[in-house]
Formats: sequence, C-alpha cells, structure tokens
Amino acid sequence: MRSIISITDLTLEEIEHLIAVARDIIVHPERYSAVCRGKKLATLFFEPSTRTRLSFEAAMQELGGTVLGFSEAQSSSAAKGESVADTARTVSCYADIIAMRHPKEGAPMVAAQHATVPVINGGDGGHNHPTQTLADLLTIHMEKGRFDNLTVGFCGDLKFGRTVHSLITAMARYPGVRFVLISPEELKVPSYVKIPLKANNITYIQTTELREVIPELDILYMTRVQRERFFNEADYVRLKDSYILTPDKLTNARDDLSIMHPLPRVNEIPVAIDRDPRACYFKQVLYGKYIRMALIMMLLEVTK
Ligand code: NCD
Repeated sequence: MRSIISITDLTLEEIEHLIAVARDIIVHPERYSAVCRGKKLATLFFEPSTRTRLSFEAAMQELGGTVLGFSEAQSSSAAKGESVADTARTVSCYADIIAMRHPKEGAPMVAAQHATVPVINGGDGGHNHPTQTLADLLTIHMEKGRFDNLTVGFCGDLKFGRTVHSLITAMARYPGVRFVLISPEELKVPSYVKIPLKANNITYIQTTELREVIPELDILYMTRVQRERFFNEADYVRLKDSYILTPDKLTNARDDLSIMHPLPRVNEIPVAIDRDPRACYFKQVLYGKYIRMALIMMLLEVTK
C-alpha cells in the first residue's frame, strides 16, 4: 500500500510507465473499462475543485469502479471538529483508495499515515499538487515528445501556486531543463522549491518581465493569482492582474510554444487565445483524466 503525496514519490521510471499506460488508454479505452470493477474511490475535498475532483471521479468510473465522497468540508464531520486522521481511518473502511484536497499544507500526508488504503494528494494548501503535475507531464509528452532540454517559463503567482511547485520539482529531474520564473517580487517561487535547483546546478532566472523572455520559451505555464491564500484583499487586488497574456505579447513567441495553465483562469489568459493552436490548457484537462486512470491502476495494483 502506498500513497502519492509529492511528485517525488514517483520514480522517473514510474512516471514513464504512467504516461505509457495513459497513452494506451487514450487509444484503447475499452480495454480498461472493467479493470477496477468492485473497487471504490473516495474523494475527500475540503476545498473547491472542478477538474481535479471530477476527473478523479470520471477516471474511476471509466475503469469500471465506483465513487463516493464529499466536495466541501462543511458537509463532512470536519465541520464538527473531526481530525483529518480520524476522517482517513473512517473512510478507509468504505473505500479502496482516497483522493484528498485540503487547505492545510501536509494534511494529505497526515491522512496517509492513518489511512489503511492509498491516499493521493489532490492539492494541499499552497504546497503541492502532484496529479496536476502528472496531467502537465502527459501534456508536455504529447506536445513535445520529451522532457529534457526544454526552457520552461512559469508566470504569475509562483509563491502560492502549488501546481508550479510540483511541476518545477518534476521537471528539474530531467537533463538540460532551464526555468524562467516570471512573477511580481512578492510572489516569487519559495526557497524550498529553489534550494534543490541550486544544489543540482539547474539553471533558472527570475524576472518580472513576461514580454522580454517570451521568445526563449518552449513552454509558458500561466497561473492564477491565488486569492484564497492572501492575508489581505488589498494585496490581492494590487497583484491580481500583473500578467495578462494578450495576443500582442505572443508576437515574438516561438511557433511551437506550448501555452499551459492548470485552470481555473481568471483574467490571465483572454478567451481570444483559446483559438491559438499553441493553447494547450484544455488538453491538460482531458489528459488529467487519463493519467489519473493510470495512477489509480498503479496504486490499486490492477492491470488490463
Ligand atoms: C489548481 C489548484 O487547485 O491548485 N487547479 C487545478 O487543480 N487544476 C490551480 C488553481 O487553483 O489556480
């Protein structure tokens, strides 16, 4: 029994395997439609979600399994003061695998210590979001065919954006990757994410200017300013529209740039960009379901 709390809980070989399985599911979904028959996935979401929760649920259903759970803390016994540990022990009696999102950093790790079934971190506060990273990696694999020797730009709220932290950590394991970190001064990547980059001599630059660096990028990963993690509304209002990817900013971008975003977007990508063939964010949404199918299969140790 194993849980996935951080993207580093998976080896590079396991990530390669998950991508291969996800790509096979895309081509032959019927071969996987009953592999989880009789199995149950619980989704314990203490924070809002559209894609992560519904893609987990769709993933389990497309594998022939069933789902149960809750989508807000208020409808669970957390509202009565129940601990994450007790919730995890309880749900282990009803489900074979748990996907959990929680506003507190580390909560899914606590759940994993007390659950008797695998726990998958579906996002913990401003910390990590490993399954979004798997969706991002599958997207990069489909678009670029490789993970090495890419220049990856991250733009927006790099401080609180958990998808950013997990994807930087994941991409830093491949050779020749270079990071361009574009954010306001107040929203720079936290040092716990940068320390391993320095230790491994991975090149990164930090800048506030999106327009200047766009021509160098193979991937531009846009993010939403994470309003719910700010301590005061005035700071959010001041920073929320720091980066808006208007079509004119893309004039000098490469033709094979991949524009990514974990979604939800607010103002940072205008809908006009959706028609640009370089826009990949709705592909990420779809690939997220397939890679979660592969992950559920791996953790439940089922094969086709
Ligand atoms: C992200 C999240 O929840 O961290 N959304 C997602 O899971 N696709 C990004 C965000 O909320 O901005």
